[in-house]
Amino acid sequence: MAAYLSGFGNHFATEAVPGALPVGRNSPQQVPFGLYAEQVSGTAFTAPRSDNRRTWFYRLRPSAQHPPFQQMETAERWQSAPLFTAVTPNRLRWSPLAIKGEHDFLDGMVTYAGAGDVTTQAGVVISLYTATRSMDRVLFNTDAEMVIVPQQGLLRLITECGVLEVEPLQIGVIPRGLKFRVEVSGPSRGYVCENYGAPFRLPDLGPIGANGLANPRDFETPVAAFEDVDGPHILVQKFMGDLWTTTLDHSPFDVVAWHGNHAPYRYDLRRFNTVNTVSFDHPDPSIFTVLTSPSDTPGTANCDFVIFPPRWMVAEDTFRPPWFHRNIMSEFMGLIEGEYDAKAEGFAPGGSSLHNCMNAHGPDRDSYAKAIAAELKPHRIADTMAFMFETRWVLVPTTLAATTAQMDYDACWGGFEKAKLPK
Ligand SMILES: [Fe+2]
Repeated sequence: MAAYLSGFGNHFATEAVPGALPVGRNSPQQVPFGLYAEQVSGTAFTAPRSDNRRTWFYRLRPSAQHPPFQQMETAERWQSAPLFTAVTPNRLRWSPLAIKGEHDFLDGMVTYAGAGDVTTQAGVVISLYTATRSMDRVLFNTDAEMVIVPQQGLLRLITECGVLEVEPLQIGVIPRGLKFRVEVSGPSRGYVCENYGAPFRLPDLGPIGANGLANPRDFETPVAAFEDVDGPHILVQKFMGDLWTTTLDHSPFDVVAWHGNHAPYRYDLRRFNTVNTVSFDHPDPSIFTVLTSPSDTPGTANCDFVIFPPRWMVAEDTFRPPWFHRNIMSEFMGLIEGEYDAKAEGFAPGGSSLHNCMNAHGPDRDSYAKAIAAELKPHRIADTMAFMFETRWVLVPTTLAATTAQMDYDACWGGFEKAKLPK
């Protein structure tokens, strides 16, 4: 069983062997047991204290002890931004990605859309993964922080900091550059957001106050756990959009103790404290923000992770589903379970949609007709969990995504009757 430390962005301190963690200094002349001290900085050294992320590892061997990396031949299904495919203003929607053939998480990555530029540390790339077997190799992503959103199948993430178990309705976040291996227990599928920008953080709460939305204590980081295993281990890194590999003569999960705040975590979306109206209208969907990666422009996210969880709808004299809208921010949506209240059909668990900058969307005709005729008594939206990666950047679909999108998505907004003015 994995064990966890509670809190968001805390400076955790944990040791798998009593006495392994140096006390009072980060790099003493002699680390206990002859362990090697190594700092991993997830932000610039001089980033403001509130943003600064770094972790000290105490490990059996230094990470630097490895042969040269060789570039891997890949199927290029896992891609990086900038994508040099055609951008489209058209609304796109996808049926669930099929889980086909035997493969691990790394070979099962399929990129749908991306924006920004991996070389400038701004932007996002959104992929889906499928996996039918556990990885027997280790991955680290130089390019991005990775938010993993399982839709089917429990994931066991073996990381340098310890073990994270993440099931559907939970998310797992792997900081930039940290090594991990994905183990599965059966056919698995989910979504991955690679965040090139500032690490995800909790949004400010403003007038909401000190509590609400995702509460810090519900984030869980693994306690230190390590493998003392000699023998060949394949290490893969994603570096500037390409995959590179080398072979170590030992397990890289050899961190016996660590302290810091550049660490993986999981969060159970069912613990989200949903805030909404108790009078009329409903707030903008930013009220459902779980995590945000800010850009250099205040309030304008490189990426927001937003969920649409089970909740009560009580608004009076209000069109309760998401309204018709056109946004400067671009929206990539996924569905973990149940139904999304703006779409009658065609958006299934494991499916996705993309609504790019300023392009109109909203409820389909059936959902609209139902909503304007509904008796407005308190109503619970149950057994559902949709989510959105929302970004200031226009998302460019990959060729594979553009050619596998549903052909008739636009039709769901057809057939609205013209409003009738008085004669
Ligand atoms: Fe939208």
